[in-house]
Amino acid sequence: MQPAPDPLDHIATLDLRGNGHAPPPEPGLARKSSRFSRVPSAGMSIEQLRRNYELILNTRAIYYPVSYQILCEIGSGRQGTVLFALRHGARGCITEHAVKLFDPGLYRNVEEYWTDMGRIAYQVGQLQHLQSHNLVLTDSYEETYGIGFVQMEAIDGMDAGRLMTGETLEIARQGYSAAEWIHSRAIIFRIEDDCVCLQPGVAIYILREILRGLERVHALGFLHADIKPANVMIDRLGAVKLVDFGRAAMIGERASFLLGSPLYMAPEIHRREPGTIQSDLYSLGLVALEMLSGRSLGENAQTEEELLQIKLDLPNRLADMFPWHLRVNGAFMQILHKLLDPDPSRRYATAAEADAGEDGLKIISKQLVQADLDTEYARELSQFLARFAGVDDARVGEYLPKLLLRPSFRTGP
Ligand SMILES: Nc1ncnc2c1ncn2[C@@H]1O[C@H](COP(=O)(O)OP(=O)(O)O)[C@@H](O)[C@H]1O
Ligand SMILES: [Mg+2]
Repeated sequence: MQPAPDPLDHIATLDLRGNGHAPPPEPGLARKSSRFSRVPSAGMSIEQLRRNYELILNTRAIYYPVSYQILCEIGSGRQGTVLFALRHGARGCITEHAVKLFDPGLYRNVEEYWTDMGRIAYQVGQLQHLQSHNLVLTDSYEETYGIGFVQMEAIDGMDAGRLMTGETLEIARQGYSAAEWIHSRAIIFRIEDDCVCLQPGVAIYILREILRGLERVHALGFLHADIKPANVMIDRLGAVKLVDFGRAAMIGERASFLLGSPLYMAPEIHRREPGTIQSDLYSLGLVALEMLSGRSLGENAQTEEELLQIKLDLPNRLADMFPWHLRVNGAFMQILHKLLDPDPSRRYATAAEADAGEDGLKIISKQLVQADLDTEYARELSQFLARFAGVDDARVGEYLPKLLLRPSFRTGP
């Protein structure tokens, strides 16, 4: 049997003089591609090109350096920084991406960092098979100067944590006429006890979309393990996408030392038991609580024990946490109780059951249809987000440095 060709031999044999690849971009340059593009070497013949073509096909390998031009930061969390970057491919082919750089500051030493990067690299390969419009598309894991990063689709939108703030509401108001504002308030937001919360219809729409994303993740044997508003993005078309798979774990695996956000953790994860589908569903229940009551649970807890105790007591207090229009809805309260049961075996068996099962969120969607209160939530959210692009307010840049605020990147020079 022939030994497998050494990839390096392949590179050595290839005539790379005319590869058309862009040199690394200089910081601050405009996105015009021509300045980066190389003209093919005049000395390259068509015979050489044909030989290279055959070599690539025979060796079944492509080695190709890529450079990114970072335009701005679009988010950050405990695990790293998400950047909006232009990927400079050959001959000025520029594509837009979100690049998440993993911060080594969380780890005690290089081994720990790279071991965890190995976990993430493996997951990127696995999760690529998911292909769901409710999950961010992650293309690849790479390293540069030892620092790990993933290339993702750049979601042009806002995360649900940002969406539900008074500041967002205030900025958006400036883009509306008085009548439009009243309409938007009636469909998307409500204020309860000075807290911004979402109207039930739009909240149920977002929650059901998250469940559809989770259904796919769970089908592949993974847990998201960090469901919270900041990891749920609404894009400019009103689509809901889960981001941040940095803590994703196999079902039944003991959570890594890098646990998800304590505020949204299921009781069993506080006890360091292995995560299950039901642990993700519990976190979703807490997201529901926050969206519909405007308050997050346990913000004032001083210790993890205190936080766990608040969660264990939650079933007794649940009704008091919601405004009356939800409290009186028996089906709704039953759903919340089931998602937030401290005992995982009493929660829904699957994300699909929580979404469309007999006693799932679908019931509330049906109620809204019957009461003629449903609407096209994606369109409403899309129209709401569109307002941000046009708002002329100095705070916008500081507070919401999101892609949708930078239409110039979209249209190009
Ligand atoms: N693909 C993406 N496109 C646009 N924004 C993103 C994307 N991924 C993450 N973000 C934003 O960046 C923030 C931090 O990213 P995340 O992956 O959640 O990092 P961490 O693991 O540190 O929490 C998110 O809350 C979200 O607002
Ligand atoms: Mg996050």
